[in-house]
Amino acid sequence: MDFIKTYAEQITDTLNNLLTLDDVIELIEKPRFNDQGDLAFPCFSLAKQLRKAPAQIAQDIANKIKHDLFEKVEANGPYVNCFLNKNMASQNILQTILKEKSSYGSLPIGKGKNITIDFSSPNIAKPFSMGHLRSTVIGNALANIVEKCGFKAIRINHLGDWGTQFGKLIVAYKLWGNEEKVKEQPIKELLSLYVKFHEEAEKKPSLEDEARKWFKQLEEGNSEAQNLWKWFKDESLHEFTKIYALLDIHFDSYSGEAFYNDKMANIIQLLEKNNLLTQSDGAQVVELKEYDLPPCLIMKKDGATLYATRDLTAALYRKETYQFDKALYVVGQEQSLHFKQVFLVLEKLGYEWAKEIVHIPFGFILKDGKKMSTRKGKVVLLEEVIAEAIQMAKKNIEIKNPNLENKEEVAHMVGIGAIIFQDLKNERQNNIEFSLEEMLKFEGTTGPYVQYTHARACSILRKADHKRQAQITTALDDEYSWSIIKLLMDFPSIIEKSFIHYEPSQIAKYLLDLSKEFNKYYSHVKILSNDDGLEGRLSLVEAITIILKEGLRLLGLKAPEEM
Ligand code: ARG
Repeated sequence: MDFIKTYAEQITDTLNNLLTLDDVIELIEKPRFNDQGDLAFPCFSLAKQLRKAPAQIAQDIANKIKHDLFEKVEANGPYVNCFLNKNMASQNILQTILKEKSSYGSLPIGKGKNITIDFSSPNIAKPFSMGHLRSTVIGNALANIVEKCGFKAIRINHLGDWGTQFGKLIVAYKLWGNEEKVKEQPIKELLSLYVKFHEEAEKKPSLEDEARKWFKQLEEGNSEAQNLWKWFKDESLHEFTKIYALLDIHFDSYSGEAFYNDKMANIIQLLEKNNLLTQSDGAQVVELKEYDLPPCLIMKKDGATLYATRDLTAALYRKETYQFDKALYVVGQEQSLHFKQVFLVLEKLGYEWAKEIVHIPFGFILKDGKKMSTRKGKVVLLEEVIAEAIQMAKKNIEIKNPNLENKEEVAHMVGIGAIIFQDLKNERQNNIEFSLEEMLKFEGTTGPYVQYTHARACSILRKADHKRQAQITTALDDEYSWSIIKLLMDFPSIIEKSFIHYEPSQIAKYLLDLSKEFNKYYSHVKILSNDDGLEGRLSLVEAITIILKEGLRLLGLKAPEEM
């Protein structure tokens, strides 16, 4: 049952179709204070058409509405406030959730449509940075969210596996490298070679020429260069895969930049045919003066292609291969200009679908107020951070629940969950402060807090060991349950909002609210102590476990039943 829609229908009827149903739905608000009811319809916008004061209009509408689902409808100044029939609404929503289980909140918006999501996309032979972690976590949540909205999600890891840095690495490896060391700790070792290259090149600039030569060899298919590149790539990918396994994140494609090496001729031809290429200092560019943007670099003097050339090629390839209706790129805000340029070039080529490509930027991760940087070898290795989080989670669990059986497994879920939630509870454009201690707290606005609430609810159900009845006959009429019921009713619209704004934080914040309300309920209402109304209370608790678990799943967190 959609309460807002029912209310909107009633209002539309009283207005003799002066507004459409959608207009009315759009206007309906959820009042912040309980004495203003559960739904409110503001009448300001009707004053002109009806030539009446908004308060009078509100009064007229209120007088005309009568429905079983509403306990009362009353005018309050220019608003028509609606109080839902708590009993009916509670029964209705709980029955729906218990029946639909984890599919409650699924929406049909994307039926038959595809969305590609380009996320994570780390650079080979470099560490998995905190920025890549953000992209990974946000992208994964968005993929889950669009699926919940009925779309088919195609998860793409656009690996940074091509570029001049490979020339530098080859030179460095040949001069100072050691095979065993690379095999032992590929990312650390390759990074230190890379750093050493830059140090040495400052003293001896000819190394740069060497590197350019080797990159050219690589592009031309020289087998020594190719083999080294392939080896670096395999070793790095192996490391990245470990991180994805820890996070339980999967991709449909790992086709990165190198994949497009033999596919770029087409886009260059197209640009030529459309007279879009101009010469600039020997390089080929697409001018974007009319948008007040610097030109998009397509080809360097020496014929080498660029990051943008690959992204243009990839966009065409993805459109053809996946027939996307929307294409999302979850990449840090520092690449905004790049994506603007790429999308505009596609538009200039006349592709209508260029409007459906969206860059989804996000802010930085800060440590003690400073940006965490991977340059100059000062890196925080993500794997180590994850291991530490799991370790700390284990300590917390040992204090809270020393007898827990599968401690290791739960510590894993909690440690990883803490890292993911800490990121997703913030609006993605904000910078976020990284503190393992903060994110692992079992109280406060953390992942473990939501997981703990879920486990607490599960433990009530275990204790009750109840047999679920189809009908929830008992009234849930205390204010604590009503706050929960209202949140449960909101879940589908939260999913929709998180999709519309590409904002997983909507769901994270919602889960925090729901947890808070449940914990209030838990401390004020004796759930198990008497049989009177037990069934209704248990249904409420079960519905909460379903929604918390599903919400956590959408964000990429597990929900242990005990912790
Ligand atoms: N590898 C790039 C980086 O680390 C991110 C790639 C994002 N995706 C894309 N299609 N450009 O900066």
